[in-house]
Amino acid sequence: MNKSIVISDVDKIYQNGTKALDAINIDIMEGEIFALLGPNGAGKTTLIKIICGLTNMTSGKILINNLDIIDDYRAARKQIGLVPQELDTDMFETVWDTVTFTRGLFGLRENKPLIKNILNNLSLWEKRNEEIKNLSGGMKRRVLIAKALAHEPKILFLDEPTAGVDVELRQDMWNLVRSYQNNNVTIILTTHFIDEAEELADRVGVIDNGSLIVVKEKNELMSSLGKKQILFFLEEPLQFIPDSLSDFRLNLKKSNTTLEYTVTEKNEGVSVSRLIKTLDSNNIRFRKIETVQSSLEDIFVKLVTKK
Ligand SMILES: Nc1ncnc2c1ncn2[C@@H]1O[C@H](COP(=O)(O)OP(=O)(O)OP(=O)(O)O)[C@@H](O)[C@H]1O
Ligand SMILES: [Mg+2]
Repeated sequence: MNKSIVISDVDKIYQNGTKALDAINIDIMEGEIFALLGPNGAGKTTLIKIICGLTNMTSGKILINNLDIIDDYRAARKQIGLVPQELDTDMFETVWDTVTFTRGLFGLRENKPLIKNILNNLSLWEKRNEEIKNLSGGMKRRVLIAKALAHEPKILFLDEPTAGVDVELRQDMWNLVRSYQNNNVTIILTTHFIDEAEELADRVGVIDNGSLIVVKEKNELMSSLGKKQILFFLEEPLQFIPDSLSDFRLNLKKSNTTLEYTVTEKNEGVSVSRLIKTLDSNNIRFRKIETVQSSLEDIFVKLVTKK
């Protein structure tokens, strides 16, 4: 698989002395959805701004489709679409003009059907002749997305694209992201909605205090750091856990009507059927079993509060 972005040893110290990034190394593959997670001030936007050429790195090297972002600035920038975290677009322009203008900026020919399609996908077609200042917050965000897509980028950065948007746009966004991925566009997404990353990401990077603390396939992260529990809903409350069940380390919950068993890699498989047999031989009957898996959110919270 081709590497879309190669980030090597990137440091960033802002002029006021804030160290925002410390030795960041990530390779991002073509066509993947990479979610960059981290608390406020972690350095996510700084990293995106550096890659997009909006601020300089203090040291390090970044390649975009093998183009150095400093030596080959123009060509590298052409590959990228950015939906910024903050709105910074000309408020007096119309939706149509601002989105069309973006294509021109990148030296591309006019393509009305393409722009029409983008505006339609973002439910902005009806608003095409409206000045940006007259749009609602969520619609302005849609315009930012349209602008980022207008020059058909190969790599798309979405810096908190669903902050302050309604449920419908969130769904539209997710569908849009998937459809771009299907066209082999690489997507880098930051979000504080961890469920969004859980829904979309192939890989997750967690950044905290300027350092990358984890980069992993989402599924691997969830299975290695997550926890699976099996809940047995009992037919009758249990007074205590019999000694014969002690090595299963069960918890008795919900007024003694639920037995909770934590599955670890070591005990998975054989032990569950052994547990069920042992429950049976102790005459402990249950009416239902449920499996609960830790969410990416549980794992994220554990990761960033560990230190
Ligand atoms: N222009 C700037 N000058 C000085 N310091 C800055 C500047 N921009 C950001 N910082 C600092 O750099 C650090 C990282 O900020 P950044 O905006 O990259 O965080 P973030 O992960 O995007 O946070 P959020 O989730 O709140 O968007 C913070 O300590 C921030 O205060
Ligand atoms: Mg940010």
